[in-house]
Amino acid sequence: MALIPGDGAGPEVMAEARPLLDWARARGRHLEAIPMPYGAEHFLATGETLSEAAYADLRDGFDAILFGAVGDPRVPDGRHAEAILLRLRQGLELTINFRPCRPLPGTGPEGLHLEVFRENTEGAYCLQGSTEPGRAVDLAVHTEVAVGRLLEAAFVRAAHRGCTLTLAHKANVLKHGHGLWVRLFQELQAKHPEVSARAMHADALLCALVQDPGSFGVIAADNYLGDLISDLTAAFAGGMGTAPSLSWAPHRPFRCALLAEPVHGSAPDIAGKNLANPVGMILSTALLFRHLGWEAEAEAVETAVSGALADGAKTRDLGGTLGTSAMGRAIRDRLS
Ligand code: NAI
Ligand code: MG
Repeated sequence: MALIPGDGAGPEVMAEARPLLDWARARGRHLEAIPMPYGAEHFLATGETLSEAAYADLRDGFDAILFGAVGDPRVPDGRHAEAILLRLRQGLELTINFRPCRPLPGTGPEGLHLEVFRENTEGAYCLQGSTEPGRAVDLAVHTEVAVGRLLEAAFVRAAHRGCTLTLAHKANVLKHGHGLWVRLFQELQAKHPEVSARAMHADALLCALVQDPGSFGVIAADNYLGDLISDLTAAFAGGMGTAPSLSWAPHRPFRCALLAEPVHGSAPDIAGKNLANPVGMILSTALLFRHLGWEAEAEAVETAVSGALADGAKTRDLGGTLGTSAMGRAIRDRLS
């Protein structure tokens, strides 16, 4: 497993996830954690973002990546972030970005269970476009292969949970790209009659999501909408500091087909002050454990997080007083 702490609050929250890897190893899980320096500091010092050789090493030499966050005010155009994180998501074809929202004790409505399936490799984040005199263009590319994979995973998940699946789209104006999404969604609806599935205009969906979050189960969306919707769902469970995510390539094109990272970014406003909440990073690690088939470890970590919060252990974003490291310790103390 490769560890890329990245920038800002990334290394701080990663430091609290890392002992969980040692803990899993001590329980007999086979795992080797290798830290990698990629991020703003490394870029500013060496000029290297993620070289082709480094990318190939991650792709072929590892099973999974645990990622903190990238983004640094010293690199205002964020080019290193693009070259590292988007390169990994797109290069490794990590089409599925799974962002669950389950409020923890004291962070939101109990029992709420939302899951966003966000397409992670294309759409408006495909990095194609231009800035020209007097106008700017960002292309959004949607392919049947990636959209089909994302939607299939969302249908399978909704069927497994027995919950509603909602597609977020704007096919009324984005006729081509989102038209493709709606068409594939309808085809899968016919294939999965057991799933209660509906397509909604994303703007109306956002209103309904705020007013009645309990009427949603799984939400499928393209890269851009999924990014926005999942920050909103994070707000139901305590905000940016608590939201986890896991990305994977269901078709396993390469050895490395898993990337776990918190939903939040590098939080430059609080970075380096021991203020970041490590819960999003720790729950992302639990998602990774589960995907590796380590269900007992995933459960134990999630239970430790809930238990710590129920006991009042909270960082400042949740109204508490603990620092990043004390919060990490409070969680670890609950693991046998
Ligand atoms: P952000 O997620 O870093 O921060 C948004 C707000 O949430 C800030 O007020 C921050 O203090 C708070 N926050 C974030 N993580 C937190 C944590 N663990 N505990 C408590 N509070 C937390 O998003 P923002 O400010 O839009 O972006 C900052 C930088 O991060 C930019 O350079 C951006 O490009 C990058 N970014 C990177 C991402 C990634 O690596 N996956 C994702 C989003 C943004
Ligand atoms: Mg985001």
